[in-house]
Amino acid sequence: MIVVHTKKELDEQLAEWRQHGDHIAMVPTMGNLHAGHLSLVELAREHAERVVVSIFVNPTQFSEDEDFEEYPRTLERDTRLLKRPAADLIFAPDVETMYPFGLKDATTISVPRITENFCGASRPGHFDGVTSVVARLFALVQPDAAFFGQKDYQQQLVIRHMSQDLNLPVAIITGETIREEDGLAMSSRNQYLTDDERANAPVLYQVLSGVGEELQNGRRDYEELESESVAKLTDAGFAVDYFSIRRAQNLEIPDRDCDELVVLAAAHLGDARLIDNTVVTV
Ligand code: PAJ
Repeated sequence: MIVVHTKKELDEQLAEWRQHGDHIAMVPTMGNLHAGHLSLVELAREHAERVVVSIFVNPTQFSEDEDFEEYPRTLERDTRLLKRPAADLIFAPDVETMYPFGLKDATTISVPRITENFCGASRPGHFDGVTSVVARLFALVQPDAAFFGQKDYQQQLVIRHMSQDLNLPVAIITGETIREEDGLAMSSRNQYLTDDERANAPVLYQVLSGVGEELQNGRRDYEELESESVAKLTDAGFAVDYFSIRRAQNLEIPDRDCDELVVLAAAHLGDARLIDNTVVTV
């Protein structure tokens, strides 16, 4: 496996692979890898001869009061983890490589509407940062396919929207959420939880799954279900950011006949902001 930091090194390797006619799959990450990221690498391996994993803690998707400085940077450990499932290349650029004109003069790509609610409302500017960096990564690597996790449900929809709208020649593929044994969705931010909070954290997925079952059993009083769930989570010590039942396809408000729903939640537990979701076909 090769680790490269510059555009020149990246271009040289990609050119060699393309000459052989190899397809390239890409998994964009911010590093501090866990089994969720690795499952995307495994999925990527099934789709292409070559797998590129990018590791870049992207400053433009963090707001001033967020954890950009504290975000764990663990390149050596990540490199070891990417021996199996194997990535062919790790692209770990610095800020100058990703934003050659500097952050103030950087072009922004902004997807409207679908970015307005949920994580977009709680984290202003976040999705502009995500789409802008993902578009840059796509331009640098020019992958045939790129892989994102269902855990960040809104993010993968926003990236799909951007790719389709701009006709980017990359297939967007979403991989399932990987969980700890007790149901907690794996996340780099779980390490901000204290032992007590960690023991409590699976309640988020329990409540989401409970709503999934209620929907499958025929309940359609979405607002009632949402407020019951917020109460349960608040009682369990979470500060709920949002808890919402939406159309899986576009996050719009569903009517009673909608048969593909997503239940989305974000909640703070101590210093950690946890997000999770479940998709329900009714
Ligand atoms: P990061 O949080 O490092 O996540 C990288 C990818 O791993 C994302 O597509 C995310 O949805 C996926 N992922 C995270 N936890 C997962 C889990 N438990 N199961 C399955 N997949 C999981 O998301 C980002 O980075 C950034 O916003 C990025 C897209 C790289 C742009 O900077």
